[in-house]
Amino acid sequence: MSKAIKKRAGIVGWPISQSLSPTMHAHWMAQYGIDAEYLPLGVPPEEFSERIVSLSESGFAGVNVTIPHKQAAYSLSSTLDADARAAGAVNLLIFQNEKIHGRNTDVSGFSAALNDSLGEGAARNGPVVLLGAGGAARAVVIALVKNGAKEIRILNRTCARAEGLAKAVEGARIKVFEWGDWLPAFADAGLLVNTTSLGMVGKEPLDIALEALPAETAVADIVYNPHKTALLRKASAQGLRTMDGLGMLMHQAAPAFAAWFGITPIVTRELRMVLEAKLNG
Ligand code: ATR
Repeated sequence: MSKAIKKRAGIVGWPISQSLSPTMHAHWMAQYGIDAEYLPLGVPPEEFSERIVSLSESGFAGVNVTIPHKQAAYSLSSTLDADARAAGAVNLLIFQNEKIHGRNTDVSGFSAALNDSLGEGAARNGPVVLLGAGGAARAVVIALVKNGAKEIRILNRTCARAEGLAKAVEGARIKVFEWGDWLPAFADAGLLVNTTSLGMVGKEPLDIALEALPAETAVADIVYNPHKTALLRKASAQGLRTMDGLGMLMHQAAPAFAAWFGITPIVTRELRMVLEAKLNG
């Protein structure tokens, strides 16, 4: 009897050594008894299209796509789901029937994490302050609108980019503030979300005072390395509720695992502890 070919998937990024995705997928493979491989694949931007086509031809089930390739993955996809279309970005590729299918699971990932960590009404407790206007911000904005956010206040270092994002959003009132205009932006805010790369290991810190936030405001950071960013530590010290970046990371990964391996994995406390140990170790 011939041996079944092991299914393969992976994550394509540049750089890639910092990725927690191989650890996460290996945890689920062991938990569900799936004999497959999930590989970290470092691919520079100029080689992206060629490598994806060759992976799709070499029997891979698909790949996750991370910085800086999410827009290139969007352009390369022959089909797109609604969130990928709305976000203009793809973080999951599925190779099926000789086609490259692009999906965005960052939107549902942020949504699920928000509900898990801060409860269902988290986006509806008052205006949402959004820091950043890059690719990640776009996915978060779509999730916020789906979760009923009525007003979103965008602050970004490059104001023109915030204006561009504001124009693309439908379904909520969007206001753009100058980066640094914290006081008017923070007034009566229900939620603050950092989607910039500030505070991530190797990047500059996100240096803002949070004292002007109301006591009921929750603070979320999509940066997960370090696990507790300076922003989250400052918010906790002030008694504000917080949400770290691991929730979104785990929840965006679950539908990818399901698409390739046929089992929807459950995001557990145990998985979170494995990832926290890896980050803190
Ligand atoms: P991603 O896809 O992860 O969102 P990105 O599109 O490069 O990556 O966006 C990075 C975000 O971090 C942007 O909002 C960026 O602000 P600019 O649009 O002005 O570039 C923000 N960012 C990065 N470095 C920053 C810094 N030193 N100060 C303020 N914002 C910064």
